[in-house]
Amino acid sequence: MTDRLTIRRPDDWHLHFRDGAVMRDVVPFTARQFGRAIVMPNLTPPVTSAALAAAYRDRIMAAVPAGLHFTPLMTCYLTDSTDPDDLARGAAEGVFTAAKLYPANATTNSAAGVSNIENLFPVLARMEAEDIVLCIHGEVTDHDIDVFDREKEFIERHLRSIVATFPKLRVVFEHITTGDAVDFVTAAGPQVAATITPQHLHINRNAMLVGGMQPHNYCLPVAKRETHRLALRAAATSGSPQFFLGTDSAPHLKRDKESACGCAGIFGAPFALESYLTVFDEEGALERFEGFASLHGPAFYRLPVNEDSVTLERAEVAVPPVLQVTGEDIVPFHAGTTLGWRLVG
Ligand code: DOR
Ligand code: ZN
Repeated sequence: MTDRLTIRRPDDWHLHFRDGAVMRDVVPFTARQFGRAIVMPNLTPPVTSAALAAAYRDRIMAAVPAGLHFTPLMTCYLTDSTDPDDLARGAAEGVFTAAKLYPANATTNSAAGVSNIENLFPVLARMEAEDIVLCIHGEVTDHDIDVFDREKEFIERHLRSIVATFPKLRVVFEHITTGDAVDFVTAAGPQVAATITPQHLHINRNAMLVGGMQPHNYCLPVAKRETHRLALRAAATSGSPQFFLGTDSAPHLKRDKESACGCAGIFGAPFALESYLTVFDEEGALERFEGFASLHGPAFYRLPVNEDSVTLERAEVAVPPVLQVTGEDIVPFHAGTTLGWRLVG
């Protein structure tokens, strides 16, 4: 039995850092594990220009603890009025690694997102020409579409046509939650990839709704039925370069989760590697973990792999029931449970 695993240092290809004091307190959880992270732009106000992204990047860099080498990779929040020239210039200057499409009102801080995806096609054409990666929150927002069907519906209404219209555009279907998404990505070919979160590998929708409402297991897209969780596990551990690690760690304070209108988001950053590795271990796929965590993402984004490594060993790790951010309680994913792997360096 393998009890120790050393792999190239992983990256997190989908992450929310927030800003200000919360950002300063959550950056260290990520920087101690990952070499880089794709930083999502859904701040208030959102990161819609290269100038805003460059300033945000500087604030993140200032929060990286001394001695750690962590690089934030910035994204541009697409809106109905995105300036394609600013986006192209920001990408050429190395400020933007990708641009993020939030359908308006699909999730936290997405009110300024895109209200009509077809109207964005001129921007997508420019992104295809400039070879800028498009990251997509793939859910429709129509009130008549059940929340559990919103990802599948997005594929049919929008994603097929985006991929068909822009065959060279590299697209990351973010935080996929369904077997339908796995099938779509697999059939689409190498210009389309997907990130998979730890929570969607560990929990199905029962974890949110059985035994009382469980706000700490609520995120968007919501966890689906067990068949979908199993399809995601198969995809993540398949060795396919189209699937890679993206935690979608989304910190919200405990009191904001446990409220009459609880925020969407799971704070997965603190024990992210231990959480993912537990899944690969359960699936008998430890030898495929490095691909998912450290190799497939850089290959898709056409970035070098990290030079240094991390080591995890089989050992019990107790995840605390709460952690502190800005002096307040925040509940991490797996709170109060024990994981079977520990990051040792
Ligand atoms: O659960 C989520 N939380 N899903 C998202 O898409 C956004 C995120 C957040 O920013 O809180
Ligand atoms: Zn996200």
